[in-house]
Amino acid sequence: MSIALSLRGYGRTFTTPAGALRAVDGVDLDIAPGEFTALVGPSGCGKSTILRAVAGLDTRGEGEVCAGGDPITGPHASRGLVFQEHRLFPWQSVAKNIGAGLRGDRAARERRVAELLELVGLEGFADAYPGQLSGGMAQRVAIARALAPAPDVLLLDEPFGALDAFTRIRLQDALHDIWAAHHVTALLVTHDIDEAVALAQRVVVLDPRPGRVRRVHEIDLPYPRDRASARFAEHRAALLGDFALSGHSPPTDSPHTDSPHTDPSEEKHHA
Ligand SMILES: Nc1ncnc2c1ncn2[C@@H]1O[C@H](COP(=O)(O)OP(=O)(O)OP(=O)(O)O)[C@@H](O)[C@H]1O
Ligand SMILES: [Mg+2]
Repeated sequence: MSIALSLRGYGRTFTTPAGALRAVDGVDLDIAPGEFTALVGPSGCGKSTILRAVAGLDTRGEGEVCAGGDPITGPHASRGLVFQEHRLFPWQSVAKNIGAGLRGDRAARERRVAELLELVGLEGFADAYPGQLSGGMAQRVAIARALAPAPDVLLLDEPFGALDAFTRIRLQDALHDIWAAHHVTALLVTHDIDEAVALAQRVVVLDPRPGRVRRVHEIDLPYPRDRASARFAEHRAALLGDFALSGHSPPTDSPHTDSPHTDPSEEKHHA
């Protein structure tokens, strides 16, 4: 079996004002080409750290992080990235944002942008500016931009976390369709267990401090998945049970948990 992404003994220690912080430890993971994998776990368990390593945005971890068998040394057009915030250029049109990373002659780039706009259901918005879009539309543009260079791998860090429930489900469905039609390998970080059950073939459950793989939960339900079905509920319950039994709070923000964001010793410094 060929492997699209692999981590071997991946670990990461951050230096903080309060000393060394072991964020991720001994993560082994193989992801097959075209597979849809979700990464879930409580806040601060190292999901984004792992995703940034796979993206090539952080290469200072230990162990091996490979794409197609080659060590990842930096960001690459073969791995598209989508974050919680759309990160579009506000001074550029939707079409310019999507086409920013494209090469080739102008007509070809325009054709590709039109194709991508259709793919994410935003025909007619080529000349709009990010400030004129709703949050869900802006995230669609961000997905189109990530897909523009036809990457093999799509890496998503809570891409729908800031959206309302209705928009989130619509975008989950859109992401599913794109994944199914384009055979990309998808790695999705999410806090939302339903999102993981709706989309993923495998859900990697992480334990916090340091972030370690607790187990990998397989979801064999056919697509499109019926969110109201009993089998969907079984998978949801199994995953929720992971957190309830772990002695840690479930992966939703609660004012009464020791969230890393309230702990001054674990301050985050985003690149
Ligand atoms: N650049 C950094 N410098 C110092 N500490 C960091 C840095 N990035 C992450 N950390 C710490 O590493 C741990 C894991 O962080 P990470 O962002 O990967 O968690 P996460 O699972 O994505 O959390 P969330 O669900 O809240 O996004 C946290 O304790 C965090 O404070
Ligand atoms: Mg994160």
